[in-house]
Amino acid sequence: MSTYPRTSDQAAAETALRLPGTRKRAAASNDFAIIRRLLRDYMGRRWNRLAVAAACMLTTAGMSGVLAWLLDPATRELFLDNNARMLLIIPLAIVGVVALRAATAFGEQYILNNVAERVVADVQRDMFSSQIRLDIATLNEIHSGELVSKFLYDATLLRGAITRGVAGLGKEFVTLVVLAAVMIYEDWQLALISVILLPLAAWVTQRLSRSLRKSSTRGMEETGTLSRALSEALAGRRIVKAYSLEAYAAGAAESRIAQRLKFILRAARARAAAVPSTDLVGGLAAAATVAFAGYQHLHGHLAINQFFAFTGAMLLAQQPVRTLSQLWTISTEGLSAANRIFALIDTKPGISDRGDARPLVVGPAPDGGSIRLENVSFTYREEGAAALNQISLDIPAGRKVALVGPSGAGKSTIFNLLLRFYDLDEGTIRIDGQDIRAVTLESLRANIALVTQEPFLFDETIADNIALGRRDASREEIVAAARAAAADGFISELPRGYDSRIGEGGLRLSGGQRQRIAIARAMLRNAPILLLDEATSALDAESERQVRDALARLTQGRTTVVIAHRLSTVLDADRIYVLDQGQLAEWGTHAELVARGGLYARLYRHDLAEDTGNEAARTTAARG
Ligand SMILES: Nc1ncnc2c1ncn2[C@@H]1O[C@H](COP(=O)(O)OP(=O)(O)OP(=O)(O)O)[C@@H](O)[C@H]1O
Ligand SMILES: [Mg+2]
Repeated sequence: MSTYPRTSDQAAAETALRLPGTRKRAAASNDFAIIRRLLRDYMGRRWNRLAVAAACMLTTAGMSGVLAWLLDPATRELFLDNNARMLLIIPLAIVGVVALRAATAFGEQYILNNVAERVVADVQRDMFSSQIRLDIATLNEIHSGELVSKFLYDATLLRGAITRGVAGLGKEFVTLVVLAAVMIYEDWQLALISVILLPLAAWVTQRLSRSLRKSSTRGMEETGTLSRALSEALAGRRIVKAYSLEAYAAGAAESRIAQRLKFILRAARARAAAVPSTDLVGGLAAAATVAFAGYQHLHGHLAINQFFAFTGAMLLAQQPVRTLSQLWTISTEGLSAANRIFALIDTKPGISDRGDARPLVVGPAPDGGSIRLENVSFTYREEGAAALNQISLDIPAGRKVALVGPSGAGKSTIFNLLLRFYDLDEGTIRIDGQDIRAVTLESLRANIALVTQEPFLFDETIADNIALGRRDASREEIVAAARAAAADGFISELPRGYDSRIGEGGLRLSGGQRQRIAIARAMLRNAPILLLDEATSALDAESERQVRDALARLTQGRTTVVIAHRLSTVLDADRIYVLDQGQLAEWGTHAELVARGGLYARLYRHDLAEDTGNEAARTTAARG
């Protein structure tokens, strides 16, 4: 389903993530339940506006009936009775009725659009806040591009259903009833002929709308895949360029666009056929009416004024019939969009506070913030290999503890569990003696600052990005944090200083600068526990020194767990845990571990050789 070729591993991971039970979606509700929920949660609150709109709607429909009926007195008074006085009154009456109808039609449309836009805004707000509260595992399953298309496309369908669908259905239906009443009043037998043809019109409409619904659903799915391909191509732009995949990406996008076009065109054809085909049925009705009316008149049963009013009503009725055939599809499309939206809103996070959760209490630094892992086992996916197997760690308060080990050993997984991004399968994790599953998520995370391998910066100002550490920080505190993180220097040199905006993905800053901003963010958070996933990307000697100094200041007086990729950075750690394939291989201080001659000693020798190699290369380069 992706634009780029994927490894079978990734494909397997994706399939596994869709196992039943991992998705906690609400079961599909029926249309009635959807409408009730829309009314209760989103439209009910705006009942006064809706009441005005309904009044406008009824007036509009009524005025259409009056307009048709006016043809009766007009023909009788002016043409049959030659009443000169009516020459002014009847045209004035027509103008009055038309003006009133225009005003109420405007009011109704305006109010309905107003309500619909507010409903859409509310729905989007609910969608966003429910999605962002999901746990990491569920969020990993969602593709941003598809979510965006749901946000925009489904919301548009819903708006259409409210402004045109639900309201339109009501209005056109009432109009039709009023016009039918006029027709029956003028000549019930004639009216009967038109009514007989109604089932035919209904049948045509239904066939068309079924095909429209099918192809528009497929079109909407393809819109999702297209926006997914687009966001993927943009997110991976550096890889696209580096591997010259432009033509490949363009080709993939082209086939998606062609696929989408196919369904959209099919929907367009069905939509375009809706009006002409009902018109055709309407034409049949007109022909039958004229034939029967002529017959009635020849036998003296129908006066010309009645015929005019009847024909007027019938012609006016064509529009509602036409619209109804379109509105039916709009409403059903809107309802299925609402169903998808509600399913999204109802997705429950897999990880949440226990009913009796209490806030985590951490003692003041440097005595607070001890962490103990007791026989912790964890597997990401049911049938996968264990990422952690019976791990026990003891991380004393206020100390620096390092996690080292080969790639895939489970180091980052320990961070994921500490932050409760995932819940462990076996064992317990305690912070200052409190089981992390018994405390609130918010208090747990408030006591932990995380600095990741690839610091993520939002497309906001630098000051805003640092302030994410603590939302209520003052400018002075932000600057102080930046200074401590050795970031104040380069920030002040930027043309707009702390108010400079970071582009999407923070591309305008170097790796070392981004890291220092992330460190400043953690400084500001001032949490007793610090989790550091050290950057693997090599920095130049100067930025590395600056980042290291900043980190040294940050870790002071805090319980620090650092994932070290280069062992030279953890020589001073109070304790080093060596992980291998989810198991605890050995632990001790640097000196103890080197003396043991185990995995750590091997990794260290390897690291050392690499560093000396780099040093030698640098010296050679300097000489040459
Ligand atoms: N979100 C995930 N879903 C499924 N499996 C995962 C996920 N994240 C990690 N794993 C698997 O769990 C194991 C441990 O991964 P982890 O990220 O903890 O390794 P690591 O020690 O941090 O490695 P590195 O040094 O490369 O960052 C690996 O086998 C990995 O494939
Ligand atoms: Mg990792």
